[in-house]
Amino acid sequence: MIIAVDGPSGSGKSSTARGVATRLGLRFLDTGATYRAVTWSAVEHGLDLDDTAAVAQRARDLRLEVSTDPAHQFVIADGTDVTAAIREPRISEVVSKIATNLDVRKELVRRQREIIDDAQPTGGIVVEGRDIATVVATDAELKVLLTADQDARMARRGAQVSSLTAEQLRDQIVRRDADDSTVSEFQVASDGAVTIDSTHLTLEEVIDVISKLAKE
Ligand code: CDP
Repeated sequence: MIIAVDGPSGSGKSSTARGVATRLGLRFLDTGATYRAVTWSAVEHGLDLDDTAAVAQRARDLRLEVSTDPAHQFVIADGTDVTAAIREPRISEVVSKIATNLDVRKELVRRQREIIDDAQPTGGIVVEGRDIATVVATDAELKVLLTADQDARMARRGAQVSSLTAEQLRDQIVRRDADDSTVSEFQVASDGAVTIDSTHLTLEEVIDVISKLAKE
């Protein structure tokens, strides 16, 4: 069983996907964390983020452990626990640059598929990201595209990143949307995906809808 949950920044996909995994007793994979971990590592190594070959090599060399336990999420990169560090604004500001590097994507999609395969004997996995239904797990049993209008997404992001002003936050979301929109895989509406607009729904309501769809 694979449930794909795709959506833009602040659409609530992380909390939603984790909630669905908990509710259904499945594993959970936050693929954004893998892009953030490579970004953290490239920054930590002082790489020029425009040097696509060097950044791609870093992605291939990185030892990466990503927890798939929805109750206990952590990311370990080259032996360092980066669970908190990868959420810092300095990483969010540049992560799209790393995510538009096609060789990085190739490497991370490969690793994500390995994690998804490993989870199958345990019953299945909820995978959250941008290109899960279109690229990473095109065979997913359930594909959800989670959307929300820009104000709702800003409010949700703002609640998580209190160190930014409203204006900085809007800039960051608008810029990341623009950067991410250049990745062609994010454009394609996946066959059979269910779109859920979460603007006026609570987290519990969205989890309910997806859990019911999964049981159908
Ligand atoms: O939580 P938020 O949506 O802001 O970000 P995230 O899910 O942690 O992902 C961070 C960044 O990683 C996104 O802005 C994308 O650039 C990239 N990403 C991607 O390219 N493909 C994915 N499957 C997941 C994330």
